[in-house]
Amino acid sequence: MQTLTLRRPDDWHLHLRDGAMLAGVIGDSSRHFARAIIMPNLVPPVVTVANARAYRQRILDVLPAGDRFEPLMTLYLTEGSSPDDIEEGFRSGLVTAVKLYPAGATTNSHGGVRDFDKAMPALERMAKIGMPLCVHGEVTTPEVDIFDREAVFIETVLDPLRQRLPDLKVTMEHVTTSDGVDYIQTSAGNLAGTITTHHLVINRNAILVGGIRPHYYCLPVAKRESHRLALRKAATSGDPRFFLGTDSAPHVDPLKECGCGCAGIYTSINTMSCLAHVFEQEGALDRLEAFASLNGPAWYGLAPNEETITMVRRDRPVAFPEKIETGAGPVTVFDPMFPLHWEVA
Ligand code: DOR
Ligand code: ZN
Repeated sequence: MQTLTLRRPDDWHLHLRDGAMLAGVIGDSSRHFARAIIMPNLVPPVVTVANARAYRQRILDVLPAGDRFEPLMTLYLTEGSSPDDIEEGFRSGLVTAVKLYPAGATTNSHGGVRDFDKAMPALERMAKIGMPLCVHGEVTTPEVDIFDREAVFIETVLDPLRQRLPDLKVTMEHVTTSDGVDYIQTSAGNLAGTITTHHLVINRNAILVGGIRPHYYCLPVAKRESHRLALRKAATSGDPRFFLGTDSAPHVDPLKECGCGCAGIYTSINTMSCLAHVFEQEGALDRLEAFASLNGPAWYGLAPNEETITMVRRDRPVAFPEKIETGAGPVTVFDPMFPLHWEVA
């Protein structure tokens, strides 16, 4: 029997939601992951340090007994974000990063940034104090094709912003294109990228071929195969600038399976199995630990977890539920469309 032992992984991009949904999904993360960067796109969003403190407590309140899991909080950047509040949150250790959603880019992003000049005081302060900015890297301009939104964002928003604030530490989240990979690989510093589980597994055919499949729809939307291959190469390369951010984003089935379905794929429960499969296919199982457990903490200036997990390769496929039941309703689990043989022991 093949086994693989690695430092306990962390998830550097996670949506936990709130209320009954939070209670229904938290265990799927805390079972395998020690820490996660928690996305702030609630309704209303987590804008202030007081909001983040209260949300963190709501997460800890529903953590399954015995699980050790540290929510690393983020603040939702608005045009009115207070530099002093942000700095206080960072210095107190409560807030790890600030999240930039271009207004209208995705779920609950309407309160995000339209005019970057208005967010400059906050961004300048972050650059000064070394606080990371997590970026949803897509333009929302209606003229730009949805498959080009990331590449256009890099050219027209991200690169100018980084030139204006070279000291700003930027995590380019859920990179989905070879353009994103190239941009990170050729940057001089202060830039890293997270890659999701699902973008390593699916390309856009999964959403559209043979019928429209809402459970493969997320943002940034999956791109063509050449981009998926570039992401796999980057993730399995060992390059410390790439690490895991699942972007696991639960929505109840009725909100996915309808005339205008929400973006988001739920992967917390089977991410480690999917990743082991991908890394095995790429002949890089020895680099899974760097991607899932080492590169992220190094980027955020944290120590890797002391604990380890052991993964086991079963001869027979490992069964995951098709859906999980939450108090908010059923949530469909990501189906990688191949049998999974690895599981966390
Ligand atoms: O697919 C996504 N779902 N992408 C995002 O950027 C947001 C997320 C969500 O909150 O549902
Ligand atoms: Zn996200």
